Amino acid sequence: MPPVRAGDTLLEVDAHIRACLNWDYGHRDTRLWQLYERSKVAQWNVSTDIDWTPEVRLGSVLNPRDGLVPPVAPPGSPVPPELWNAFLWEFQVWMVSQFLHGEQGALLTTARLVETVPDIEAKTYAAAQVADEARHVEAYARYIDEKIGASYPVNAGLERLLRDLLGESRWDVLYLGVQVVIEGLALVATRVASTSFGDPVIQAITRLVARDEARHISFGVVALDGLYRDMTSAELADRDAFLQEAVHVMAQRFLLGEVWERLGADAAAGRRFVRGDPRMTAFRRLLFFKVVQVLRQIGMLTPGLRDLMLAESLAAPEAFAR
Ligand SMILES: [Fe+2]
Ligand SMILES: [Fe+2]
Repeated sequence: MPPVRAGDTLLEVDAHIRACLNWDYGHRDTRLWQLYERSKVAQWNVSTDIDWTPEVRLGSVLNPRDGLVPPVAPPGSPVPPELWNAFLWEFQVWMVSQFLHGEQGALLTTARLVETVPDIEAKTYAAAQVADEARHVEAYARYIDEKIGASYPVNAGLERLLRDLLGESRWDVLYLGVQVVIEGLALVATRVASTSFGDPVIQAITRLVARDEARHISFGVVALDGLYRDMTSAELADRDAFLQEAVHVMAQRFLLGEVWERLGADAAAGRRFVRGDPRMTAFRRLLFFKVVQVLRQIGMLTPGLRDLMLAESLAAPEAFAR
């Protein structure tokens, strides 16, 4: 059944899922229980662990420090040099908005994992992650509301991926979509943001979020460890197709179409610029670095995914060298 959109702010997805209870309570010495123990002592509080007092002035002069995004308009820029600072702000607002929407997606899909994964330790860890994701939603929503007062709607590609995932009945595909692709991108993106974004509030938020996301990535790697060794070639082809679509959709997002449009630039020219500019390409390759690494760890870095990532410049050829 197609999803039903109710009003402008609500996306409802019908799903047929198989929830399961497990009466085998497992052993306390597994890697997932250890991860759960780490999670319990790593909780933080958005209200008290972030200094919300610094003023953030949207439009003030930014000076990106890590060199990932060009600090001044490079040749071929779709916006004139005098608009480059506006681009840097729009880029930050867009990134934070997509962080927020992605966090809500992670909140719901991880809650779904609690219901559908068979192992009790995975259910327990996933429940801890649900609390983390709720905290991330709280932090980004408050930053947007109190500090910048500007945002972007959810990117169409991210929305499609989340809609597909919420209709998904296979728990391992949920892991692939959330714990590998979305979380892999989120981990790198938040780490980059924590050092390169222009104000201390977003730097503090992303630093704390990145710490949680590193645990979430480990959850996916541990939970999927060895799973794909025993699948049939038809089942593997299915997962491969899903991953290729997810990676493609997420890559399109980073061509920044919405940002160029909001700046009044030609969106097609903007996308061409992001594809061709060496620093923007390096930025996208950095973003996808963790996804490549995790796919390799779980045995799903297929030739098709490798080709796709090379064709879309999401990784340098040496990233696939053994
Ligand atoms: Fe998160
Ligand atoms: Fe996460």
